[in-house]
Formats: sequence, structure tokens, C-alpha cells
Amino acid sequence: MSYYITTPIYYVNAQPHLGHAYTTIATDVLARHMRQRGQDVFFLTGTDEHGEPVADAAHAQGVTPQALADRNAERFQALMPRLDASNDFFIRTSDEQHKARVQEVLARVHANGHTYKGLYEGWYCPRCADFKVENEIAEGNRCPIHEIGLERHLEENWFFRLSAFQDRLERLYAEQADFVMPPARFNEARAFIASGLQDVSLSRARLKWGVTVPWDPDHVFYVWFDALLNYYTALTYAPAPPGSEGRDLVKEFWPASFHIIGKDILKFHTVFWPALLMAAELPLPGHVFVHGFLLGADGRKMSKSLGNVLDPFEVMQELGTDALRFYLARDVPFGGDGTVGIDAVRSRYQSELANDYGNLASRTLAMIRRYRDGVVPDVAVDPTLAGAFDGLAERVAACLDQADITTALEEIWIRVRRCNRYVEQRAPWQLAKDPEQAPALDAALASLAEAVRVLSVLLHPYMPDSTGTLLAALAAPELHYAGAAFSATGGGRTVSALEPLFPKR
Ligand code: MSP
Repeated sequence: MSYYITTPIYYVNAQPHLGHAYTTIATDVLARHMRQRGQDVFFLTGTDEHGEPVADAAHAQGVTPQALADRNAERFQALMPRLDASNDFFIRTSDEQHKARVQEVLARVHANGHTYKGLYEGWYCPRCADFKVENEIAEGNRCPIHEIGLERHLEENWFFRLSAFQDRLERLYAEQADFVMPPARFNEARAFIASGLQDVSLSRARLKWGVTVPWDPDHVFYVWFDALLNYYTALTYAPAPPGSEGRDLVKEFWPASFHIIGKDILKFHTVFWPALLMAAELPLPGHVFVHGFLLGADGRKMSKSLGNVLDPFEVMQELGTDALRFYLARDVPFGGDGTVGIDAVRSRYQSELANDYGNLASRTLAMIRRYRDGVVPDVAVDPTLAGAFDGLAERVAACLDQADITTALEEIWIRVRRCNRYVEQRAPWQLAKDPEQAPALDAALASLAEAVRVLSVLLHPYMPDSTGTLLAALAAPELHYAGAAFSATGGGRTVSALEPLFPKR
């Protein structure tokens, strides 16, 4: 089975911030989990380099758009390994292959009769690169997202006949209730369509920084059409993942299983994008999952222009990459909005990573080393603890099939806490004092070793680094999802010493 998952491609008008890291991490959790389940995964991310947001920022800094794009694309590229993102490719929309494919696909849309030249008059946000329709305009003709005044534009553009897809889009939404997730976002998209679709600009005559319209070279494509097509063009020239050289990635992976996006770009992905694919005669994606905004302490969306940004690099520097990944998946229910801040990261680090999981891991290993010379007892596991894991792996998989990374993590965490209670209840240090209790001690230690192993396999997509270290110390490095079943396979393995996974900072 193939599983193709994407993040939005990020604007290079500014440096990466936590919002970008958030989408990337969430997508990576899903990609890693699906790999554990043996799926053939392709995970795409990249940068969106054309259009006004970039051209304006470059102008303000006195550099060319390409120079700004090069500088910031490099920063986004460097962010990926820093986040432990396991993306298979990083697309830049200034890639020549991308540009050529965009021209090809949109020329087909043109040839199919879905375009015409017309006059656009209306309100435009240069930061969103968005021609706003009536119900998207805040009071005083302001952008509801960036809170800046909108510009009145009057320009001759090529148009895409979005209105002609009204019926087909309505049918899509009637037939596929999970095309957009979660349901509140599905309803929002459907309501937008129901309010009546207007044709949208496909090209810009005023802008130079973009992909040239092949049938009218004075125009460049409106950046959103160039950008959305990245999901398709990337597969036409990305190198195949190791072991699959020579494979046709479009055949293998198109269409995407999941596009993960933030709610600010819902209209483009849930309305424009399926219509564009219909116009280009390409199959539609399985799902678009829309997550919420990370909000600054002021309760407003974190964004460079509002200046309330929490720096992911600083968080990782202080507490590590796994802590950032864990915090974002855990603290903000995926799909909703949530306030984030460094104090909350520190508090979860201490109470949940260091105390709950880290402590469970170090106690378990230390006790096996102290009482059993480091060898996991080869005995049956304790059914009271094993029972708490019944159905866990299936439940986690079911949540992640729906991209619900927060509920899946909560399911796992309930068991982490259950294990700590088990340690307190069994009190192995008491059992160790009484030779007659040796079988009970064996069962407790074997069960704990197994529990920590299963938890770490399931937590691996969230915290690849620390779970990897722990599984190595347990001499059980296998990551496959099949290994997330609680069983008595660990007996006889020799565990090694473990430094604290989440040391005091
Ligand atoms: N370039 C477009 C997307 C084109 S996709 C074909 C774009 N880029 S962006 O740099 O502005 O990044 C948008 C994405 O970053 C959002 O959809 C979201 O995934 C993420 N986030 C940016 N700020 C965010 C928050 N404050 N909170 C959560 N995610 C945010 O739009």
C-alpha cells in the first residue's frame, strides 16, 4: 500500500517559525507511523518561492527575489533534519522541472477550455496572495488573518473557470464526507462552495516573479496555482526513495493520501485544488486534513508579521527536538487552535517526559540490572499489566488513520501512567528483599520491560531519538508496528545502562 503525505510548501519571505515546524512535525509523525505499518510512504515538503509575498519582501530588503528565496529556502531545508523530519523530498518551486510541469499542466487546463481573459476588480491581500471574496473581508476592508488593509486591484488577468466546477465540487462533498477533516472544516469548505463560486485569477500581469504563462508570456501564473501543483510536479522529478530506483513515482503515489494544511489555506486546498485537478483531468487526493493555529500568549495566531513568534530553534536548543515534537502533538489537540508558550513546554518536559516516561524507562532498566544482572527474566508476563495494553496498538493506528495525532498520543500516555502505577503497586524493591517472591519479581520485571518496549515502539513516530536510544538499551531495536503487540518475547535479552533520556535542564 502506498501512502503519500504532504505539508504545505512554505513561503520564503521569512524564516521558519514554530507554525511551520508544527505542520512539519505532525506530518512526520504520520509518515513515520505509516512506515512502521509497512506502508510505502512518500513524504513531501518544500518551499513556495514565487508571487507577491516573496517579491515584496525581497524588494523591502533590497535583494532579488531569487536571492531571498535561495537564502530562506536553505533555512527551511536545514530545519527538516533539525526537526528529525523524515521527508523523502524537498521541493522548491523555483526548480526548473517544477516550472516546466506547471506550464504543462496549466496549458492543458487552458486547452480544455477552463480559462479566459478578463478584468479583475476586487480586494487583495499581498501577504496571503489572496483575492478576497466578500465574506473573507474584515471590517474596514482589512485582511482577517494579517490584519492589514487590503489593496484594491483592477487588473487584466487570465481567469480559471472555478464557477464551472460548482456542481462537481458539490457532488464530491456529498459523496465523500471525509474529503476534508475534521468535520468542522469539511462544513466550512462545503459552505464556501454552497455560497456560490466565482471564477478566480489564474495569472497576474503586474508581477514578474513567477512561472511564465506559456500562451501569454506577459503574464505569470498566480502563485497559488503554481504552488498547489507542487504536490504533483514533485513526483515527476524527485529521486525515488532508496531501494525503489527507477520507479515511476506518479504512478506509485499519485494522488496524495493526505494533504496536511493549516486552516489559513483551507479555501485553496479544499476548493481551488480539487477543481484544478478536475480541470487537468488528474485524480483527487484522499483527504485534506486541516489543523488549527498555534496562538501566542496574546491569543493571536503566531506569525512573523504580528511579532509573537516562539522560536522552534530556541526550544530545541533548550529541551531537545523530541521535547518540541512531543509538546506540539500533545498540548494542542490536532485540528483545533491552542495557545503555546515556553513555560508550557518546560512543564510538560518535566512532568511527562522526565517524570512519567523517562522515569519509567530508567527505573525499569535499573531494576533489571540491579536484581537480575541486566537479563530480562524469561517468564510469562503479568496479565494485569498486559491487559491494560489490550487493543492499544489498534486504537493508535485507528486514530492515526484519521490523522488524530493527539488522541493517539493520549491513548499511549494513559498506559505510560498505568505502568508507573504498576511499579508503585508491585514495589519490586520490596519483592527483591524476599527470596520467596523471586517469581513475582521476575514477572513484574519482564512485564515492565515489555511494556516499556511496546510504548517506545508506539511513541517512536513522535520521539524518534529518545525512543531509539531506549529501544537500543532494551536490546530490542525493532520498530515495526507488529512489534507493538504486548507479548512475552523479551526474555533472555541483556539490557544496558541508560543515561536519563530527559535530563534536568
Ligand atoms: N505558501 C503557502 C502554502 C502553499 S501550499 C501549496 C503558505 N505558506 S506559509 O509559509 O504561510 O505557511 C503556511 C502553513 O504554515 C500553514 O498552513 C500552517 O500549516 C503553517 N503555519 C503557519 N503559521 C502557523 C501558526 N501560527 N499555527 C499553525 N500553523 C501555522 O501559506
